[in-house]
Amino acid sequence: MSEPQSAAAVGSPRAADPHADDVRRAVDVLRRGGLIGLPTETVYGLGADAGNPTAVARIFAAKGRPADHPLIVHLHRASQLTDWARDVPLAAWKLAEAFWPGPLTMILPRSPGVLDAVTGGLDTVALRVPAHPLAQQVLEQFDGGIAAPSANRHKQISPTTVQDVREELGAAVDLLLDGGPCRVGIESTIVDLSNDGIRILRPGSITAQDLTRVTGLAVDDSIDALVRCPGRMASHYAPRARVVLASIEQVPQAIAEAAARGARVGVLAAQRSPAWSPDVPWLALGNVPDEQAQQLYQRLREADRIGLDVLIAVPPSDAGVGRALRDRLWRAAGLGDAPA
Ligand code: TXA
Ligand code: MG
Repeated sequence: MSEPQSAAAVGSPRAADPHADDVRRAVDVLRRGGLIGLPTETVYGLGADAGNPTAVARIFAAKGRPADHPLIVHLHRASQLTDWARDVPLAAWKLAEAFWPGPLTMILPRSPGVLDAVTGGLDTVALRVPAHPLAQQVLEQFDGGIAAPSANRHKQISPTTVQDVREELGAAVDLLLDGGPCRVGIESTIVDLSNDGIRILRPGSITAQDLTRVTGLAVDDSIDALVRCPGRMASHYAPRARVVLASIEQVPQAIAEAAARGARVGVLAAQRSPAWSPDVPWLALGNVPDEQAQQLYQRLREADRIGLDVLIAVPPSDAGVGRALRDRLWRAAGLGDAPA
């Protein structure tokens, strides 16, 4: 199908359940092996039937993603865990109880029936129960697993609005569900429970402290753990503009250097400083960590929309979701892992 059909936005003034038709159509597309743009509370996903190898292959083709980068399987509820994973440890059930539906992905030993195309041939599978009401409705009616990476082209910024998905992958998607802007705004926390203990492979809004509080276990969130996640690259989540990291004090110098090379430069920071020329565009990141997460990818896209060559980014503090924001900014700058 060439042009994606766009389903109505959340809150549109239709009858009792404004989304009933959209949900039915999405389930129909999935059953026929098609691709849907699926809103989740983190970022939009590019969803296909996780049990259909042809449909899963279409995801990789649409994204331009290497075949050995495994996908997350989205489920309706925690009780489906044992359909997809074996040897589920007690800690996984506790985390599911505390955080699902929500922005947590668990890596567990896979059940024999899970497709190699989904796991990239690994002996583990990534599972998540998303909280967005539209995703929940689609998953409930579909009653199977939906394989869904973020709905961006390989290495690009994850989409947090339906317009972003349309721009990135519109032509490849058979049906685009409009769930409004994503509430969390960055991808889920990924935790590996397939060996003894708990390791964070990708930081997100659920932090190491949250995981320890619920399980009573120590959590490894060292850089060493972060690099073990296949498909996470030193350069990722990057806009076209070159991202340069700077402390707030270093910003005037960084502006001067970029301007001297004739680059169009802007600054991404929580605050604007009187030390910068008013001609330099300021992309405001907000002061509250959750807002910063919600806005980060929109601001990176804005940098490209206004034609910046260089974006000077002042990373937020390391506390809470700040760890995840620093991780994304380091990768946007092509620097790999953010130091703790
Ligand atoms: O918030 C999210 O997690 C979003 C929404 C759509 O759910 N999805 C998402 O998917 O970010 P994706 O494919 O863009 O990122 C998933 C990451 C990849 O880096 C992949 O390598 C890793 O999860 N992953 C998947 N299966 C894995 C496995 N078995 N072991 C280790 N890492 C795995
Ligand atoms: Mg992604």
